[in-house]
Amino acid sequence: MQIIVLLYNDKVLENVISLYICGDPRSLSMKGMVGLTSEYEKLDAFIKNLPTKKGALIAVLHHAQDIFGYLPVEVQDFVAQKLEIPAAKVYGVVTFYSFFSQQKKGQFRINVCMGTACFVKGAEGILEEFNALLGTETSVVTDDGLFSVDALRCIGACGLAPVITVNGKYYGRIKKSDVKDIIAEYKGKI
Ligand code: FES
Repeated sequence: MQIIVLLYNDKVLENVISLYICGDPRSLSMKGMVGLTSEYEKLDAFIKNLPTKKGALIAVLHHAQDIFGYLPVEVQDFVAQKLEIPAAKVYGVVTFYSFFSQQKKGQFRINVCMGTACFVKGAEGILEEFNALLGTETSVVTDDGLFSVDALRCIGACGLAPVITVNGKYYGRIKKSDVKDIIAEYKGKI
């Protein structure tokens, strides 16, 4: 039940309240969706198959991010409508957890952990190396749409620091010199 506690911490409430105060449309329920795309149909089917909608928000958002690659406002509104919860609550959770993103990502999503254990073991240099070799900036998709590089807080594998993930696959104890090979591995999949 740790999730329930986290959902209602100060940061989430702050995000939710600020939306209501600013009159942001995300604080209102979405009125309806017309002509579902196949991505929305997949998400809809996932939600319909849930044993219960209660407490399912994080699981649904994970699934939505897997389907869409990121969580734009339209997708957040769809989730809110289907789970019958305020859109502001969905937005609060999306902005609280660093593994959720509102920005479009590359086909290969690289996450560099910048938590303390990884940082002291050179994570910053690894992040810079990815950006330098890909010719991009943190959180910006490469021009060819293939890669995006993000910096995250601790991803729970501190014993393997420094750690990165690519589309959810973990790479531990990596060195700057490994970055080139990791990029080549994914370019080889195209
Ligand atoms: S600090 Fe990087 S995995 Fe924990």
